[in-house]
Amino acid sequence: MRTLTVDLGDRSYPIHIGENILGDAKLLLPYVKGGQVCVVTNETVEPMYLSRLLNVLTEDFTVSTVILPDGECYKTTETLNLIYNKLLEDKHNRTTTLVALGGGVVGDMTGFSAACYQRGVNFIQVPTTLLSQVDSSVGGKTGVNHPLGKNMIGAFHQPNAVLIDPAVLSTLPERELSAGIAEVIKYGLISDSKFFDWLENNMPKLMACDYEALTFAIERSCVNKAEVVAKDEREGGLRAILNFGHTFGHAIETHQGYGNWLHGEAVAAGMLMAADLSMREGSLSQHDVDRVRNLLVAANLPITSPANMDAEDFIEIMIVDKKVLNERLRLVLLKSIGEAIITEDFSPVNLRKTLSVCKS
Ligand code: NAD
Ligand code: GLY
Repeated sequence: MRTLTVDLGDRSYPIHIGENILGDAKLLLPYVKGGQVCVVTNETVEPMYLSRLLNVLTEDFTVSTVILPDGECYKTTETLNLIYNKLLEDKHNRTTTLVALGGGVVGDMTGFSAACYQRGVNFIQVPTTLLSQVDSSVGGKTGVNHPLGKNMIGAFHQPNAVLIDPAVLSTLPERELSAGIAEVIKYGLISDSKFFDWLENNMPKLMACDYEALTFAIERSCVNKAEVVAKDEREGGLRAILNFGHTFGHAIETHQGYGNWLHGEAVAAGMLMAADLSMREGSLSQHDVDRVRNLLVAANLPITSPANMDAEDFIEIMIVDKKVLNERLRLVLLKSIGEAIITEDFSPVNLRKTLSVCKS
């Protein structure tokens, strides 16, 4: 078992990573602050993993459970009421602890509920998809989608602990595993060229769900993310690099309807677009872009945008991105593999070329 720390002063918290730690009482119980717990999960994860958490919790705490419908399309303000209703019906007070057991959708909604319920209560992340283990459970971004924009309603609210059990990935569908690998590749591209090299050599192992390789990839990803979050918790600047590929990707998700493209799939196509634009802006070589494309292909990820989306569709949606400042679109581009920059200084002509070249 490895423990990393997200260093945020008196709000610092551990990320425990280890096979079969899901039901480990000594890792979970120290972070449950009051006498009440509410575990939030969804209808897919519940039959597989909920009982292992409840076995640990029910002896010492009053436990409520909320089973959400499964899917990105339910990541809405309406669904949040299922959580608030349960908390109020079961009379949870301000010392309650919410536990998110599931992928990024459950984690983002549970975290946002924890941020809002009685103006803020504790919560613990127990992520069960690769994507949530390497990205969404760490760093305190929580929220829901709005029909006009992805993740537009939300709050920063850090968890008290993150428990990552790579063994739960054994039940994850292959498509979801690939979607998680997209975010893993992101860390290699934005801040860790050695890790990118490692991914080029080890992609078959990750795709085969080799636990040793997965655990290493999860750990490297979390180390990279924790470093960025510690330096810029509220995305005053640096943290925006974690959104590499996301401005394009969010536009795809919004345009296609939430859930039709998986988040990681949209990010994969978006990362190749950002790499292509970086090449047009003179920082990446064609060889670098080919390396990015080859790694995405090896992970079974999409490398082109949807056929029914043209440059105008992208630009119309991208202009409401959270990184837009003074009406100027800012993008995360690459200076090299392993180094990202946030810039509004790119040619609109090059952007349009990228959007048309990267189309399927
Ligand atoms: P998800 O939560 O929809 O999970 C994917 C699917 O896998 C779901 O059907 C889920 O029920 C199922 N599942 C979960 N664990 C499983 C398991 N162990 N075995 C079998 N099936 C399992 O999707 P996701 O990819 O985990 O997360 C995507 C969401 O995360 C998006 O809403 C995205 O916006 C958000 N996100 C947030 C952040 C952040 O910083 N907060 C970062 C990245 C992504
Ligand atoms: N996933 C982007 C971030 O956490 O900032």
